[in-house]
Amino acid sequence: MIGTSELDSSMQDYGIANNPYIPIMAEIQSIEALTARESLFKVILPEPLNHRPGQFVMVGLPGIGECAISISNGPENGKLLEMVIRKAGNVTGVLHQLKASDMISIRGPFGSGFHLDDFRHKDIVIIAGGLGLVPLRSLITPIMDHKSDYGTVHIIIGSRTPREALFRHQIQQWKEYSNVHITELVDDTDFQDWDGGTGLVTEPVGQLAIDEKNTLLVLCGPPVMYKFVLLEFKMYFNIPDDQIFVDLERRMRCGLGKCGHCQINHVYCCKEGPVFRYSQLSELPEALS
Ligand SMILES: Cc1cc2nc3c(=O)[nH]c(=O)nc-3n(C[C@H](O)[C@H](O)[C@H](O)COP(=O)(O)OP(=O)(O)OC[C@H]3O[C@@H](n4cnc5c(N)ncnc54)[C@H](O)[C@@H]3O)c2cc1C
Ligand code: FES
Repeated sequence: MIGTSELDSSMQDYGIANNPYIPIMAEIQSIEALTARESLFKVILPEPLNHRPGQFVMVGLPGIGECAISISNGPENGKLLEMVIRKAGNVTGVLHQLKASDMISIRGPFGSGFHLDDFRHKDIVIIAGGLGLVPLRSLITPIMDHKSDYGTVHIIIGSRTPREALFRHQIQQWKEYSNVHITELVDDTDFQDWDGGTGLVTEPVGQLAIDEKNTLLVLCGPPVMYKFVLLEFKMYFNIPDDQIFVDLERRMRCGLGKCGHCQINHVYCCKEGPVFRYSQLSELPEALS
């Protein structure tokens, strides 16, 4: 009979230990409901993922399936992985029935993500619509944790209603950093208490005071948001396209550039994206359609 150590070494011989199709099992530490549909999952991994902000993982349940979920915490949390999961269908529906100490499978991290070095000493404008704040939180958190390494940060966050607004407590903490300006908006207050503004995320764009040469713009939100925010920016500012980052979502299966489910023109969103520089999209007409 083959022993564990022989099995380990034979797995390494065949490269199975680093096989990106084979998930690791991780324990759920807590699940906190953030809204009626979204919960924050804190998961303890056997080893740190060493991810970049903006990357994603494939979260799975044996016998049920897998789905792509953005990593929502910064890279400095060791074995802790934070994800916000919306109850949308088969896999996410079952994930929402789990509890602390249950096990889930994780593959990844996958995708391009953001390189924090690109952002150091730059002014940054971040625009997040709805669930778009979830992946962008993995970028915002390390920027806030090392704020003196970065310039002025403007964050515009839009939600449909106050009930759907995410991470409000943490956003209050971000507001306390110097040179951080945050605008929280909802489309409709829905007759609930709300101390932010109302309107679309495009509305504050014209009032931003930015140094175009030293500013990076980052967008993540529903597909319709990109077109209108970019039009508004182009009307007021001349930020070069390679200083604009968009975080795109596509249906994903493998996460590895093998199955083709996430194809945008000639690229696989799971490998080359989900974070793209806007300058890359001139060759990808399907990207924002
Ligand atoms: C890179 C990436 C990051 C993501 N990050 C998150 C995240 O942080 N949190 C989160 O809650 N979700 C995220 N998603 C979306 C998530 O992957 C889907 O909601 C999930 O696959 C649904 O799986 P399911 O089995 O529960 O639903 P299914 O039963 O497969 O489908 C339920 C419904 O959702 C639709 N659907 C499935 N996948 C997508 C998709 N990618 N885009 C739009 N509609 C879809 C289906 O058409 C169907 O109508 C991300 C997707 C990608 C590609
Ligand atoms: S998800 Fe399979 S190629 Fe991108």
